Amino acid sequence: MSFEILPATKEDFKFFIPPLFKAMGLAHFVATLWPDNQTEQGQQRAIQRFMTEMDDHSGIRWIKAVDTTATEADDSRKIVGIAQWAVFEPDRTYREVPYYAPDDLWPNKLERDYAIHLWESYIQPRRKVLREDTLPVVNLQILCVWPEYRKRGAGGQLVDWGNRLADDLNAVCIVEASGMGQPLYEKFGYEVQELVGLKDDARFNRRMDGTIHRFMVRPRRKAI
Ligand SMILES: CC(C)(COP(=O)(O)OP(=O)(O)OC[C@H]1O[C@@H](n2cnc3c(N)ncnc32)[C@H](O)[C@@H]1OP(=O)(O)O)[C@@H](O)C(=O)NCCC(=O)NCCS
Repeated sequence: MSFEILPATKEDFKFFIPPLFKAMGLAHFVATLWPDNQTEQGQQRAIQRFMTEMDDHSGIRWIKAVDTTATEADDSRKIVGIAQWAVFEPDRTYREVPYYAPDDLWPNKLERDYAIHLWESYIQPRRKVLREDTLPVVNLQILCVWPEYRKRGAGGQLVDWGNRLADDLNAVCIVEASGMGQPLYEKFGYEVQELVGLKDDARFNRRMDGTIHRFMVRPRRKAI
């Protein structure tokens, strides 16, 4: 089996959002931030949100790994995995897309507040780099390969695609890594800079013990 990496378009969302939510793992994180992710309505909301994000941020690049050996009869347009990279260039100003938190998505205000708190904790190091470090920065925001296609190199190809883009721009790469992703990123030149947990808040400190993600950085090709 071999994989080709191609740009993913808005047309592809309906094919890859359902398997993406199914395959992501990261159960606590995904269920808290996307509580409706297993419903059709929730997946439609996610598609809408990702489309808006693309309209608001010209640096968003979705790419897909496709199985080149799949036959015409295979479904889902042969997509076996997906990545979302975001490019932040120095000559642009980027509006940070606010976390999507409509009032009716959680059963009560406390659960909604917790989702916002988890997101605010998650995003801290990324925000710091984007505000304080020298751009360009390239951020791997989402990476997932469907379980039945893992351990065959697709994840590595999706990472390598973004690394090459970063090298062309002489950009720093950053990623909020899961435990599963960490060894792969290490193989591709990233190092753990920080273990990120929940910010202190007495209401939520017992909700989650330990690490939300490992903030990893790959230096730019040439010092500037
Ligand atoms: C992390 C993830 C994207 C990796 O995808 P993947 O397609 O399995 O990645 P690769 O196949 O390139 O690499 C995984 C391993 O398979 C090995 N591998 C690659 N090609 C192989 C092949 N042809 N045969 C055997 N092993 C192979 C790699 O060397 C690597 O080894 P390691 O686990 O010892 O480091 C995938 O596990 C995933 O989607 N996880 C859930 C979501 C997630 O956590 N995403 C990361 C969020 S930051």
